[in-house]
Amino acid sequence: MTNPILACPLCKAPLAPINNSLVCEAKHCFDRAKQGYWNLLSVQQKKSLDPGDNPLMVQARSAFLDLDHYQPLAAAIQHILADELQQINSAQILDMGCGEGYYTSQWQQNLPQHQFLGLDISKHAVKAATRRNRDISWLVASGANMPIADHSLDVLSVLFSRLMPEPFARALKDDALLILVWPSANHLVQLKQALYQDVKTSSYDPIAELNPLFSLQSEQQLNFDFILEQADHLQTLLLMTPHGQRINDDTKASLIQQLPITLSFSVNIGCFRKRAQPV
Ligand SMILES: C[S@@+](CC[C@H](N)C(=O)[O-])C[C@H]1O[C@@H](n2cnc3c(N)ncnc32)[C@H](O)[C@@H]1O
Ligand SMILES: [Zn+2]
Repeated sequence: MTNPILACPLCKAPLAPINNSLVCEAKHCFDRAKQGYWNLLSVQQKKSLDPGDNPLMVQARSAFLDLDHYQPLAAAIQHILADELQQINSAQILDMGCGEGYYTSQWQQNLPQHQFLGLDISKHAVKAATRRNRDISWLVASGANMPIADHSLDVLSVLFSRLMPEPFARALKDDALLILVWPSANHLVQLKQALYQDVKTSSYDPIAELNPLFSLQSEQQLNFDFILEQADHLQTLLLMTPHGQRINDDTKASLIQQLPITLSFSVNIGCFRKRAQPV
């Protein structure tokens, strides 16, 4: 599947499909992987040889998300999308930092009249996403330099990923919607308390960071508890979070002893609109 809004990440000219490649008028050429995704990350753009989430993290995230503990988040965003897109026949929605596609895939299946794109800098994540759903344009690309024509998106969603205000503003239509999901202080607090002597509060303030280019239209918090009963489920959750990279064997063993454990899911969902003039 190709998408007419794709633009060359090197020169921004439109990309046209030729055989199994996308080519711009300057003859920059990007291949389609055999799995079906487009690799639009040129060597010049890569800061590391294999950027983004590694295979182990991707596999853990897939296994954990497939348990559906986080399904209420997929449903909450789908509700926002359905509401926003009521008047649009075939909207362009891009999920930036889509990971292995758990959320993007569900939205596409439930809102198939719209065009969904999933973009991630990790080719391992995008490969896994391609296995989930073939009706989405999956892109290996950088969010800082999205291969998307200027002012072409109706919605940009960013769940637990990087905030890049200027590229987001460039890709969105003027009246379009930016949906941002970020953890609140209470998110997985029980894990943090078990892992760290002193749980620090994050200074991350996306509303302030976005403020020059985007105004906050609405904000809600999604809170619920879920129970983990099995050691392998806990293990996958640890592996997909930054905490998992830091945990030692003794702490892991002590957490496993505490099973079943109740964990708090707590995220902020912010809906933003582009400002007519930066402030
Ligand atoms: C915590 S994961 C979240 C994945 C997915 N949104 C979810 O909630 O399951 C963050 C994702 O952002 C991706 N990422 C990090 N930096 C990126 C960048 N500069 N451009 C695009 N994706 C990026 C990572 O590879 C990873 O898949
Ligand atoms: Zn080009």
